[in-house]
Amino acid sequence: IEASDLGGENVKVEFEDGIAWVKLNRPDKRNAMSVGLAEDMIRVLDALEIDDRAGVVILTGEGEAFSAGMDLKDFFRATDGGSDIQRMRAYRSTRAWQWRLLMHYAKPTIAMVNGWCFGGAFTPLICCDLAIASEDAVFGLSEINWGVIPGGVVSKAISTLMNDRKAMYYVMTGEKFGGKMAEQLGLVNEAVPGDKLRERTVEIARVLLEKNPTVLRQARMAYKYVREMTWEESAEYLTAKADQTTFVDPEKGREKGLSQFLDTKTYRPGHGAYKR
Ligand code: ACO
Repeated sequence: IEASDLGGENVKVEFEDGIAWVKLNRPDKRNAMSVGLAEDMIRVLDALEIDDRAGVVILTGEGEAFSAGMDLKDFFRATDGGSDIQRMRAYRSTRAWQWRLLMHYAKPTIAMVNGWCFGGAFTPLICCDLAIASEDAVFGLSEINWGVIPGGVVSKAISTLMNDRKAMYYVMTGEKFGGKMAEQLGLVNEAVPGDKLRERTVEIARVLLEKNPTVLRQARMAYKYVREMTWEESAEYLTAKADQTTFVDPEKGREKGLSQFLDTKTYRPGHGAYKR
């Protein structure tokens, strides 16, 4: 499928040397996330998972916003008058991509926060593996400012990354904060000047593209799943996951790594990766 055909009306997809750029594409609405956008995102993410042009997915926004959150008009107004089944379906489509698909996605994901990031936008931000923000990006849990709670799954999502005192402060005040503060809060890995945002994000994507993709996938998934497990469960699961990784890895990375370190002594794992 051509990149231009993938995204539909609300999402733009571009491929560039192993990177799939997925852009929320409603710049006139500050990329507010509508039900239509959810449907487009589900289709795009589903397709990219098995598209060899996508080694890493970078999620960002077209124009001046990353995303101004849920589309208050299209999402809330349009479903308020509807039946509970319609509401349930609308919420389900949003959850499907913002949380379920992104949280356990087969390809590595980086959120590139280029501008406004409010409310509901925290969910896809947090569910991506990594996040880089522009120092000029503006974040806010603005729900309280228009009389609702950080719902969907926002309150849960922020509790996985933010310190409780700080999360509560922003939930209760709705105060805005910038990219550097988002870095201090642990919401993004780094905040960089706006003119370096793309360059730095691509640099990180390139590092990921050099790794053994099977092992990288298993490592990401294992980390995300053990967060919800006890120590006992984690030990059992991780041992099984490590064995499974060896079994499913067509590259036989573990074998190569061991042999290049112990037998041929051609590399030091502490300094960098084995020769693929
Ligand atoms: N839902 C629906 N429409 C939106 C949203 C949104 N979340 N955000 C912006 N828009 C629309 C505006 O209504 C406007 O539409 P119009 O051109 O048809 O009038 C257009 O996008 C441009 O928005 P402006 O407000 O004119 O843009 P400005 O650059 O002045 O401000 C800002 C940008 C600060 C992001 C502002 O739009 C805003 O506060 N948006 C809402 C942010 C928010 O609180 N989101 C909800 C969080 S809660 C949740 O997600 C559940």
